[in-house]
Amino acid sequence: MSFDDLPVGVEESAPEQTKPESSQVVFDSIIGYDDVKRLFRMSLSSQMPVHILLVGPPASAKTLFMLECMKLERSFFTLGSHSTKSGMIDYLFDKRPRYLIIDEIEHMPMKDQTALLSLMETGIIAEAKFQKTRNTQLKTWVFATSNGTDRMLTPLLSRFVVLHFKQYSFDNFQEICTHLLGRDGVPADIAAAISEAVWTKLKSKDIRDCVKIGRLAKSLQDVDWIAQTLSNYKKQK
Ligand SMILES: Nc1ncnc2c1ncn2[C@@H]1O[C@H](COP(=O)(O)OP(=O)(O)O)[C@@H](O)[C@H]1O
Ligand SMILES: [Mg+2]
Repeated sequence: MSFDDLPVGVEESAPEQTKPESSQVVFDSIIGYDDVKRLFRMSLSSQMPVHILLVGPPASAKTLFMLECMKLERSFFTLGSHSTKSGMIDYLFDKRPRYLIIDEIEHMPMKDQTALLSLMETGIIAEAKFQKTRNTQLKTWVFATSNGTDRMLTPLLSRFVVLHFKQYSFDNFQEICTHLLGRDGVPADIAAAISEAVWTKLKSKDIRDCVKIGRLAKSLQDVDWIAQTLSNYKKQK
């Protein structure tokens, strides 16, 4: 059944508010990923929902994409680990969100994942509670992230356009770090030294570690000293 083909008696979606322009979301907090940003914009300007799932290692900007999507009108953000079926379904009935944003969907219990199947395929949500049933139809885009796909239902996966993010190379890592710290006023030479120390000395691929050191260090000597100190207190393997 298509969204244009509503059965008699099913309430139609809430009247559209001013249609969110895809240009409203510019993803300007995210460095790089121009192709992914373009795909999101294409999805947002599609007549029919196109759901997108970002899969990838930690600190690869997946949550940043979700935060950008939260800027859209009528968006609803939920963490896979915090969702409860009734909570999410109540919300869908009450607020009729146009964009459902689920961070770390792999932590969503299987029964909640099942509830999404119909929403994503037909827009229909139905619930049987206290011998009463209620159903409605929504036009909702689902954007989600996951660290892996093992804990996800195969039929759910197949409803998404799935993009697998790769671990950053050192060059990507350094470029993002320099851009990001530059926004906070950290000079390029210090930012470059930080990214090198984090990658080689601390053996971390998490840009958050660069951000922390960027806030502490005022000089190249500081960078060396902080990296050495953090390395001295690193968890022993
Ligand atoms: N491409 C990027 N552009 C800007 N910041 C980034 C990028 N990749 C990683 N970061 C930094 O890394 C942090 C972690 O990103 P996040 O979206 O939370 O990762 P994930 O959800 O994939 O674990 C961000 O807060 C940001 O500081
Ligand atoms: Mg995340």
